[in-house]
Amino acid sequence: MLKIIFFFTIVMNSSCTKNDKRIQINSPSGNIKVVVENNQEITYLVEFNKQIVVRKSLLGMLFKDGNTLFKDPVITNITEENINDIWELPWGEVKKIQNNYRGKTITISDSESGMITELIFRAYNDGIAFRYNVKSNGHENDKMIISDELTQFNLTNNAQLWWTPAYGDNRYEELYQKSAMSEMDTSHTPLTIKYPDGIHLSIHEADLVDYSSMQLFHSIDNNLNCDLAEWNNGDKVRVILPFQTPWRTIKIANSAKELITSYLTLNCNQPSKIKDVSWIKPSKYIGIWWGMIIGKWTWGEGPKHGATTKRGLEYVDFASEHGFDEVLIEGWQAGFKGLFPEDSVTVSFTNRTHDFDLEKVQRYAQNKNISLQAYHETSSGTKNYLSQIDSAFSLLNRIGIKNVKIGQVGARLDQKEYHYGQYGVSYYRKVLEKALEYKIGVNFHEPIKDTGERRTYPNMLTREGARGMEYNAWSGGNPPNHTTILPFTRLLNAPMDFTPGIFDLLFENIDADVKIEFPVTFTVVDSGNGYNDLTFISEESIWQKKIMNVDTALSKEENIRVWEITQSCQPGEWEWGVIADHTALKSYDIWLPQLLGDGSNLKFKVEPSGKITGKTTMIIPKNKLDLNDVYFSKTKKELNKQRVSTTLAKQLALYVVIYSPLQMASDFIENYKEIPAFNFIKDVPVDWDSTVVLNGEVGEYVTIARKDSKSKDWYLGSITNQDKRSFEIELNFLDKGTYKAVIYKDTEFSDWDLNPTEYFIENKFYSKEHTHLVNLAKGGGQAIKFEYISE
Ligand code: NOJ
Repeated sequence: MLKIIFFFTIVMNSSCTKNDKRIQINSPSGNIKVVVENNQEITYLVEFNKQIVVRKSLLGMLFKDGNTLFKDPVITNITEENINDIWELPWGEVKKIQNNYRGKTITISDSESGMITELIFRAYNDGIAFRYNVKSNGHENDKMIISDELTQFNLTNNAQLWWTPAYGDNRYEELYQKSAMSEMDTSHTPLTIKYPDGIHLSIHEADLVDYSSMQLFHSIDNNLNCDLAEWNNGDKVRVILPFQTPWRTIKIANSAKELITSYLTLNCNQPSKIKDVSWIKPSKYIGIWWGMIIGKWTWGEGPKHGATTKRGLEYVDFASEHGFDEVLIEGWQAGFKGLFPEDSVTVSFTNRTHDFDLEKVQRYAQNKNISLQAYHETSSGTKNYLSQIDSAFSLLNRIGIKNVKIGQVGARLDQKEYHYGQYGVSYYRKVLEKALEYKIGVNFHEPIKDTGERRTYPNMLTREGARGMEYNAWSGGNPPNHTTILPFTRLLNAPMDFTPGIFDLLFENIDADVKIEFPVTFTVVDSGNGYNDLTFISEESIWQKKIMNVDTALSKEENIRVWEITQSCQPGEWEWGVIADHTALKSYDIWLPQLLGDGSNLKFKVEPSGKITGKTTMIIPKNKLDLNDVYFSKTKKELNKQRVSTTLAKQLALYVVIYSPLQMASDFIENYKEIPAFNFIKDVPVDWDSTVVLNGEVGEYVTIARKDSKSKDWYLGSITNQDKRSFEIELNFLDKGTYKAVIYKDTEFSDWDLNPTEYFIENKFYSKEHTHLVNLAKGGGQAIKFEYISE
């Protein structure tokens, strides 16, 4: 039951005259001041500890019919409110949140157009928020189209910021870039800013409902401007009067670490719509997932299908044996035409593939007191999904599945709308409301960004919305600093289904469960053209790049070079290809199947008896040097090994650093068997009583301690970027009494690059008077369970 504890709420009307030109709103402790001015145009500025942090910035809006806010503005009324209450979360990184602000609602009439707008401002001790409440346009036109929102956030200097480019096909899944504001392209929010004196701001939005999401771009003079994602015909937002914009929010803190415990965006959302929250189930889960991401299994039916009944039962056994709550099984939907179908999406959300018995696996799970987490991949076909959503959710109700992961892969929804335009915003809200109707918890992938919906809809459990673990399976991966940026950007008050917990960091055990393999030798003969540095890739070894050797014994004849690699291959039909360089021609990454044919991969077959058929040799004839129609690059790239760029201890620390009420152990189950570090994943909770940020700098390091919601145990996660470092941590966050600390740490030889899997488990006894020395390897981390022993 959600309990709201009111301290005081005062709403007052204050008289005002048309001469009011300057309105000031002070935060409860007086550290933050907002000044709104009417000088023929409406502006605001923000001071923090008597220092301007947002210079005079314009407010306004343009409509397609030529109307504007604010032209000839006149302030006609001001009301004040003074709020201080505490509300409780049913699950989260903390149990209680204080909502304490002073606010003013300023009514403005545009004398020329007759438009009437309320500008609502709030000053908290940790930032400010404002929104437009457009009430009337002075005549009978109740539909309008916003063609631009003119809101600015003008900074005081060309500050440093961490941003991700907006409007690309990868939605929010881009690496963060750190640059001066003047170097920034249009960015998603939250946008994190650091001033030279260490003050940090995070600009974002809250209560994003039936509106386009706000991106930010830099114009002149250190100005940041609101940029609304448009519909595919160019409209920005289609509104019916009266309408409200989302809150525009600015968190303000003296240091990076203070941003993390500011709950301002959650405070700017409506209180919960759900009275009985007992059905909402945070959970820890494993899944039939990494195998598809890495290319070992497939989502669709076929010889390598991941979601089989047999494997489902096996995963349920493992989950129940090790105390997990759920098993996610992807790829059970019939009618699947690939993740990115070229034409219409026809996948079913009720019919299963022939080899997967959903009811049987779920019944088996329920008998062991666990459940499946459902998976709905919509491939961005929102119309297809919405037309089936009632039957899909009814099925989940019928068989007792409580949580669903809903994917929206694809560059645009229904191949035309941004995931974060008004259409997308409304689509995700519709799905969330439907889920509430059926009492189902949601885990969105390829989501709309988090703007604090979980306060209003606590069944909005978690979402993706940044580069998660999966990127490590593909070339490029996530660099070691990625997870040291996320806590100060994407994760500010916003749970993420990052899916940590890969222990096979170098992908050495991918075939650990394969019983039969046969050696196959692949050969490339270059008849004197001078190709060099050949790398082999094959479907059988999940397209990992492998260096081929020059066989000098076979390369006797001058200029002819013979390249070879021998691989252990399991029975099946597979494809392969080779990438080469030609250093003399300054051409690199040349795709040899294209040089020699139409670009198609070569095919080979391994019979269960070990007999090899098909093509295992490639011959480059003499004078095959014309690269006109062949893919190549003009610069030499380092061989980018697919791997996870952390130490193993850092994988554990991520369970504390990245908050999510649905937390996955994402590796193949065989990689956890008999591994002592797995105990940390089994122990770590997914719901917390409180959170303390002990240190942190964006992109460098962060240390977070959290107290379990159900015991006096504390957990700590500390992570670093590519640099090794040490901290002396004061343990005064612990409760009174003695704790046994089980410390999962990097050793002095651990190194994300050279020695990632080495770790050590140490036990110590601590109380709150002690300090603890944390040593982190390059790309490393440390995870601690502080188990409460006695008073
Ligand atoms: C991308 C998601 O992030 C991942 O979790 C999912 O498995 C694939 N899409 C397929 O839907």
